[in-house]
Amino acid sequence: MTRKPNKITIAGAGSARTPALIGTLMQRKERFPLSKIIFFDKDLQRFDKIKDYVLLLLKNLSPETEVIITNDMHVAYADTEYVFCQMRVGKNQMRSLDEKVPLKHGLIGQETCGPGGFAYGMRSIRDMTEMVEVVRSYSKDTWILNYTNPAAIVAVAMDYKFPGDKRIINMCDQPYSMMVSFAKILGVNSQDLRAKYFGLNHFGWFTDLYDVNGKNYFEQLYRSIMENGFLPYNAEQRTKSWLDTYQRVAKLMQITDHYIPNTYLEYYFLQEEIVAESDINYTRADEAEQTREKEVWDICAAAVGKEDLEGIEVLTSPVFGAMMMEVAESIAYDLQNEFILMAKNDGLIPNFNPEAVVEVSGKLGKNGVVPDQYPPISTFYKGLMENQYAYERLTTEAYFEKSYSKALQALTLNRTVNTLKKAEAVLNDLRECNKEYWEVE
Ligand code: G6P
Ligand code: MN
Repeated sequence: MTRKPNKITIAGAGSARTPALIGTLMQRKERFPLSKIIFFDKDLQRFDKIKDYVLLLLKNLSPETEVIITNDMHVAYADTEYVFCQMRVGKNQMRSLDEKVPLKHGLIGQETCGPGGFAYGMRSIRDMTEMVEVVRSYSKDTWILNYTNPAAIVAVAMDYKFPGDKRIINMCDQPYSMMVSFAKILGVNSQDLRAKYFGLNHFGWFTDLYDVNGKNYFEQLYRSIMENGFLPYNAEQRTKSWLDTYQRVAKLMQITDHYIPNTYLEYYFLQEEIVAESDINYTRADEAEQTREKEVWDICAAAVGKEDLEGIEVLTSPVFGAMMMEVAESIAYDLQNEFILMAKNDGLIPNFNPEAVVEVSGKLGKNGVVPDQYPPISTFYKGLMENQYAYERLTTEAYFEKSYSKALQALTLNRTVNTLKKAEAVLNDLRECNKEYWEVE
């Protein structure tokens, strides 16, 4: 197989997810060869921790790839075909506040859902907008493959600011990750599974699951989760908070007709239980830093001063990196492979707001996402999704209009908040600690 090589930019290159992304690209370099890779981070000190490691992988496994490291957006975006975007505006320090500030008010403390997701969304919109503007000043053709969270709000905001730009692909690896876990439960190959799924990002439901030959697995899977609970495919490597999250899926199924809910829905239905179990002094940001991230930093440190890969573990990422690579591959070579991705509703779900950005199954090729058409949704899901979309949209408007009243409406509508008093209190606190990033008046 000889494929035309590609030029990519990794935006937010200092992320602890970058080493395994590079490892995955190296492992699958025949599928998505690279002529050039640009590592871009506004804070290159962050990239220093992993620099030797990723350069060692590239030098040994893909010496033909030109490598550029930069903190200059113009160098990063002037000549590139794919931006792999995974920035975290405010880094872990702000993630920690996104989680802890709401908990202070007795509210869900999570990076993408609830008030934390609101604050993070407002931060991400700023840097994402800036990035798209610079990328588009050079080329209308560059693909922006966006993982930046909270992807739900980022997707609505990008559609608001850059309407009709079909080359911004908003993606999330959680449906993909759940499918890898489904495959493990069922004892089948995840690459053979296909799903039907609808909702908003971090707010959706699997309604069907079958394989490439048409064999249906949904009932078997549904029963297995009801009876035995749900373990992620990599349960041995997961820490307590994620295992708890997966275990709650069976509980959520009580109010989900005959669907399998995305794990993130727990924050909208099991608030009391989750808040009670949370520790304001030790949230997921702390846990991720001390476990998932520390392991990466340690492996990368071993690469300093090395010339070859002897004794070096090549990190790979069966979900985040795999999906990113497969999405890019499907676009680059017009493969029309199936993914669960975000797309403007525009009638896909006929009885739901056409303006919303939904997350549904669909195909991906050289012209972007071709989403599947869905049947009308029933009252429960419609009610939930209209409410949640209104929250996403008001957050977007609050950012661009710098509007306090829209921010307050957004938070009051959010199912994890629901009262004006709590919305006001948490907004005032978040506003204070996000001063450098966004303002509302
Ligand atoms: C899943 C979600 C991502 C999220 C990540 C957090 O993969 O789809 O949106 O960023 O989990 O993982 P962490 O280990 O940082 O808590
Ligand atoms: Mn996600």
